[in-house]
Amino acid sequence: MTINNSIYEELFKMATSIMEKAYAPYSKFKVGAAILDNNDSYHVGCNIENAAYPVGNCAEASAIAAMIASNGKKIKAIAVTGYGDLLCTPCGGCRQRIREFASLETPIIVGNEKEIKRIFTLSELLPSSFGPENLV
Ligand code: THU
Repeated sequence: MTINNSIYEELFKMATSIMEKAYAPYSKFKVGAAILDNNDSYHVGCNIENAAYPVGNCAEASAIAAMIASNGKKIKAIAVTGYGDLLCTPCGGCRQRIREFASLETPIIVGNEKEIKRIFTLSELLPSSFGPENLV
């Protein structure tokens, strides 16, 4: 499957849909993520907060967990959405989580509740990164 605009739109729609299910009673900031994997399967995740704040999960981590549980190995594209006009780009930790399963050219689609705002490559968001191949 070639990655085109309709895939971006599909990932965006899936991310905004799962975003509604986020458990974010503390920050009130709901985030959704959707992944297309190497098997052309889709996986979604949302943020899950916790009364013990540092234990909370980001949406991207939830979507990656779903991908791994379904035998996906690589992220072909990922969408991340959050409410508002500021770009809901993945946090630093999630950029590194994505790095583990993506290539430097993997598109990261960033949107709000209404539309896709920007599309980055992983290397734009995490330049000169450290990854699995550094450990050989
Ligand atoms: N959050 C994510 O889910 N992904 C990100 O990349 C940025 C932040 C969540 C974590 C927390 O539940 C809420 O957004 C506010 O930081």
